[in-house]
Amino acid sequence: METGNIMINLDEFKKQAYKFVDWIAAYYKDIEKYSVKPDVEPYQVYRKLPANPPEKGEPVDMIFEDFKRIILPGMTHWQSPDFYAFFPANSSLPSLLAEMLTAALGAQCMKWDTSPAATELEELVMNWLKKMTGLPDYFHGVIQDTASTSTLCALLTAREKTSNFEINNEGFKSAGDYRVYCSAEAHSSVDKAVKIAGIGERNITRIETDEHFSLKPAVLEDMIRKDLKEGRKPLCVVATLGTTSSTAVDPLQQISDICSNYNIWLHVDAAYAGSALILPEYRHMLAGIEKVDSFVFNPHKWLFTNFDCSAYFVKDREILIRTFRVVPEYLKSVTGGKVNDYCDWGIQLGRRFRALKLWFVIRNHGVEGLQDKLRKHISLARYFEEEIRGSGSFELTAPVNFNLICFRFKPSNIEDNEKLNRLNEQLLKNINESGKIYLSHTKLKGTYTLRMVTGQTNVEKKHVARAWKIIQEQAMNLKY
Ligand SMILES: Cc1ncc(COP(=O)(O)O)c(C=O)c1O
Repeated sequence: METGNIMINLDEFKKQAYKFVDWIAAYYKDIEKYSVKPDVEPYQVYRKLPANPPEKGEPVDMIFEDFKRIILPGMTHWQSPDFYAFFPANSSLPSLLAEMLTAALGAQCMKWDTSPAATELEELVMNWLKKMTGLPDYFHGVIQDTASTSTLCALLTAREKTSNFEINNEGFKSAGDYRVYCSAEAHSSVDKAVKIAGIGERNITRIETDEHFSLKPAVLEDMIRKDLKEGRKPLCVVATLGTTSSTAVDPLQQISDICSNYNIWLHVDAAYAGSALILPEYRHMLAGIEKVDSFVFNPHKWLFTNFDCSAYFVKDREILIRTFRVVPEYLKSVTGGKVNDYCDWGIQLGRRFRALKLWFVIRNHGVEGLQDKLRKHISLARYFEEEIRGSGSFELTAPVNFNLICFRFKPSNIEDNEKLNRLNEQLLKNINESGKIYLSHTKLKGTYTLRMVTGQTNVEKKHVARAWKIIQEQAMNLKY
């Protein structure tokens, strides 16, 4: 194929874009035909690609062919209804359409001045989310890229509030031993945030959990008292609504009382399960919310909005802004202080127009449409749970709180936990190597556990029934 200076023009762009849209529609239609997890070895894709960039431009047709031939077979199909691993990064067609517009506008949404409508739409959709989830009206919302970033923002803000902005101004000269508390089951993004915030990994205290994998508030209070007695400074508690391993819910009411008594910042990580708050039957999780300082959940996990879109809420926006705000001459604007300049609400200066896809998703589904979808996912999990309970050879390893089922294969003639762990590790390997479905794993108090999340946008009962059949077949084929 001829190569040269062939950067596409608008006419060519139109032709290609129509082709791409056709390809996307066919991809979604046929997505179940793809092996959900690719059969590739490390660097197999890399070695198929040229080591040097092309000197001359190449036609889009040629690049697209290589995408289909080399890239696609090395991709995991996260939007497949056979994807049950980790937590989903679920998308939807209105979100995809909005992402096209976002890419077309190519706008930087750092300040109101640089994209007024994007800033105002962000404020609006964050207010919509508060109404949809029952979060307090006095919260202020901002879209961050990920929950990891949101939690880091929370820790940095807590640090500055507690040190009276001394660390921002002077560095860590006299700050002393801060302590951050979270459950043994909290996400690793808390450890990462503690490291980045300069608090030091040794200053994170992971609190023991109960038989449901929820934080034990009495132990938390004991640890706080002990630290105070020994001259340390309790800085922040991170409570999780929906832990990564088993979607356990920490008792927010009791934790919030403790934080308020000892004047400690309370951050809530509801990265996955926060979406369930759009269902009134899950609002009980919010008891104690009035004492919460910051809260995060990810519409990019379970609210049908393309990655990335993390909804971060704070009670006191002035402290957040004071923690992050830096205004050099070239960023000064006459509207400063009258409108939200979201670059002051977090780490990034440049920001994508993420509010647009959320706006499309909420409008096109409607709140009821979103609720229906979540309830359906939850009912699919209940169906799978019942299958496990009735099987005789599998068992649940954690309560099913939302749409994650934690389970393991447990033949009646094996009692030894280590043996069962090895058996289930092998089972997961065989299931995933089949390419038909994709599950992930965790360990719950030493028990190797298979995790199955029925949260993919288009998952139906027929998919879950098929997955259950595959899991049983693979278990029957195990040699033990
Ligand atoms: C409870 C919890 N918190 C935080 C995260 C991190 O999310 P993100 O990838 O948006 O940083 C996850 C990811 O699965 C999670 O399950």
